[in-house]
Amino acid sequence: MTLTNVQKDFENNDKRVAEGKRRLAVVGASGMLATMVQRLAPDKYEVISLGRPGFDLTNATTSLASLREIRPHVIINCAAYTDVDDAESNEPLANLVNQEGPRNLATAAKDLDATLVHVSTDYVFDGEKATPYVESDPPNPRSAYGRSKLLGEEAVKSSGLERYFIVRTSWLYGAGGKNFVETIIRLAQEREELRIVADQVGTPTYSFDLAQAIFNLIDLPQEPGEGAQTFDRPFGIYHFANEGVCSWHDFACEIVAQLKKTTTPVKTEHILPIGTADYPLPAPRPAYSVMSKDKYQKATGAIIPPWQKSLEHYIASRGL
Ligand SMILES: NC(=O)c1ccc[n+]([C@@H]2O[C@H](COP(=O)([O-])OP(=O)(O)OC[C@H]3O[C@@H](n4cnc5c(N)ncnc54)[C@H](OP(=O)(O)O)[C@@H]3O)[C@@H](O)[C@H]2O)c1
Repeated sequence: MTLTNVQKDFENNDKRVAEGKRRLAVVGASGMLATMVQRLAPDKYEVISLGRPGFDLTNATTSLASLREIRPHVIINCAAYTDVDDAESNEPLANLVNQEGPRNLATAAKDLDATLVHVSTDYVFDGEKATPYVESDPPNPRSAYGRSKLLGEEAVKSSGLERYFIVRTSWLYGAGGKNFVETIIRLAQEREELRIVADQVGTPTYSFDLAQAIFNLIDLPQEPGEGAQTFDRPFGIYHFANEGVCSWHDFACEIVAQLKKTTTPVKTEHILPIGTADYPLPAPRPAYSVMSKDKYQKATGAIIPPWQKSLEHYIASRGL
């Protein structure tokens, strides 16, 4: 449902609530993650898709008014200023979207007693660690994008909203967005040789798995049940990526290897490892951004697919 249909459909809301549907507002609806969140939303949700131009999350007045009208039980914020390199020269705009945006949503969620899921990034870390980052590790972003995303996390945490999940993820790919997998799929059909950075290590995340993880988190019991002796409310920060660790070079090699098993004509024969210094970009990236998913796994009991398996799933879904 789009925002313009909200008023009309609103007349049926009481009936829907009586039928047990929970209203789920997905913000940034045309983005890559949002596309998957909307696709995977369980039937118990009535999904309301919010995006520009109808819904600008940086406008506190109009976004709060829209959300008050919709009265969602859950808000998932998939909107962000995501151009990591452009953010270096547009930090005020990145901060407006990535800090003021989640602040407005958190204010609305508090006002409406809704649960907010806000998506953040491994780029809040400096990459100096050599073991997986846990949620309590001190952030120290190296880029304007990373700083803006950290400000967004802080805005949610300091909003007074209790019912929030901040989900940090890394190296996201999936349908409906520009991403590394799509770039390599294209280049593999055009070039015999690729040169890919081998000294940045992290973990790819398939949007399908992340969307599933978000629903697993929202599904956790949020209030103490009957007879519970002790109960820890599940809210706070969680890390989520696929299982495993690789460099961008490893990732590219696996994409090309999997592509060669399809009917897609692949030109690439050589994938040369290069250093970050050989491929200068405006924004510095963390050299190591592997995140521990222990907290998520303990909370949900869910099994996280290895990144290679999820890549297979994605390539199969592309019909290549
Ligand atoms: N992509 C990655 O590798 C990666 C890695 C780690 C974390 N993340 C985080 O994961 C989340 C989802 O990323 P993604 O790659 O799915 O993003 P994406 O495809 O770039 O989509 C971002 C969406 O945000 C919307 N948006 C931007 N400014 C807005 C505003 N003022 N009001 C309303 N909507 C606005 C955009 O709308 P328009 O279409 O109108 O521009 C777009 O639909 C983000 O929080 C991102 O920081 C991403």
